[in-house]
Amino acid sequence: MQMKDVTVLFDEQQIRERISQIGRQINADYGGQEVLVVGILKGAFIFMADLVRELELPVKIDFLQVSSYGKATISSGEIHIKKKLDDAIEGKHVLIVEDIIDTGITLSRICEILQTRNPASLKICCLLDKPSRRQVTTIRPDYVGFSIDDHFVVGWGLDYDQQYRQLPVVGILDPSVYTK
Ligand code: IMP
Ligand code: MG
Repeated sequence: MQMKDVTVLFDEQQIRERISQIGRQINADYGGQEVLVVGILKGAFIFMADLVRELELPVKIDFLQVSSYGKATISSGEIHIKKKLDDAIEGKHVLIVEDIIDTGITLSRICEILQTRNPASLKICCLLDKPSRRQVTTIRPDYVGFSIDDHFVVGWGLDYDQQYRQLPVVGILDPSVYTK
C-alpha cells in the first residue's frame, strides 16, 4: 500500500473543501461566461475532474501535454508539445489547470505559446504552489489550492516516477523511496 510512503499534508476532506471554494471563486469571477479549461497532462487530471464539477458556467475542456527537452535546456524553457490542443483558443476565456507550480518554467513557456493565439483571457489555476522555488517570477497563478514549502509531494494526480497519482491525499514522499 503506497500510503505508507507518505506523510499526509492535506487529506481528502481538506482538498475537496478547498477545491469547492476555488470553484465558487471562479464561478463569481467569470460571471456566466464560457470557459475553456485546459488541463496539463498528466498531473492535473484528478484536480481538473474535481474542479470542473464545481463550475456553474458553460465549460469546455481540452488537454495539453508537454515535456522538457532535458536538464541542459530546461532553464532555457525549451519544451516539446506531446499533445496539442484540439481547437483554436482565439477569443476564448482560457483557464489553465496544473497540478503544481515549482520553478514556473514549464508554465511560463505554455503561457507564452497560448498568448500568441489571442485568447480573450488566460488564467492559471493550480492545486499546489511552491513559491520558494520560483525562477520565473512573472508566473503568478490566479487560483491556488495550497501554497507549500519545498517538499516533494505526491498524490491527487501528482507522481513520483509515474506512481502515487491515485492517492486520495497530498503527502510528502518519504525520501527513502527515491534515495535507495
Ligand atoms: P516547473 O516548470 O518547475 O514549474 O515544473 C512543474 C512540474 O514539475 C509540475 O507540473 C510537476 O509535474 C513537476 N513537479 C514539481 N514539483 C513536484 C512535486 O513536488 N511532486 C511531483 N511533481 C512535481
Ligand atoms: Mg505536471
